[in-house]
Amino acid sequence: MYVVTLVTQKGGSGKSTLTVGLAVAAMEDANRVAVIEADSQGTVSSWRRRRTNPYPRVDRVADRVEIERAIPRLRAEGVRLAIIDTAATNNNLSSCAISVADFCLIPARPSPADIEAALPTLTTIRRFNRRFAFVLNQTPPRGYRLSEAATALNSLGVLALPFIVQRNDYQDALGAGLGVTEFAPEGKASEEIRALWGWVSKQLNREAVVHG
Ligand SMILES: Nc1ncnc2c1ncn2[C@@H]1O[C@H](COP(=O)(O)OP(=O)(O)O)[C@@H](O)[C@H]1O
Ligand SMILES: [Mg+2]
Repeated sequence: MYVVTLVTQKGGSGKSTLTVGLAVAAMEDANRVAVIEADSQGTVSSWRRRRTNPYPRVDRVADRVEIERAIPRLRAEGVRLAIIDTAATNNNLSSCAISVADFCLIPARPSPADIEAALPTLTTIRRFNRRFAFVLNQTPPRGYRLSEAATALNSLGVLALPFIVQRNDYQDALGAGLGVTEFAPEGKASEEIRALWGWVSKQLNREAVVHG
């Protein structure tokens, strides 16, 4: 089982949106997927309540012990991918979510505030020696702000591809309790999220150690 953690202390950067988008895209790619919600705000649980499909399952965790129990339990149940959504704070629970991750994704909007907010997260990720990449989210389709942000993030670490553009489908899918690939399967957002899942999946498979 692989564990992917979405983390950055900046609220509104897209952790929950990308969590549900990637979880459903991975599920459609024939993986057994679970989401671990390590955020008391409950965005993913609320999304889950709006769904009719019982998958992916969503487990809420409130502390380090619950995360540490959830991982072996999901692994034993045959889950192939666990995605952890974290809160917009640099707290103990987020650090724990980083420490158990095979790969961390740090979403950032193309703004100096989002990029600065990623720095403490990056320090924690480095402390635990975890693999990571930035994901540029809610980007304009093109423009100089985008390339400036991409340059800034590239100097700090790897930048995942593709960039995720600001699109209504992401908001509407979240509201409808769907993954974006279920909400508008032929849309550009779906294309992006499938490609991002492909990118992440490639990073995971590159890893030498595969946990039972
Ligand atoms: N690529 C995107 N395009 C349009 N809206 C987005 C996109 N990513 C996130 N959003 C919206 O931005 C808001 C914050 O996103 P969210 O995923 O809740 O951030 P976080 O979990 O990091 O706080 C939500 O209303 C969400 O629908
Ligand atoms: Mg969130």
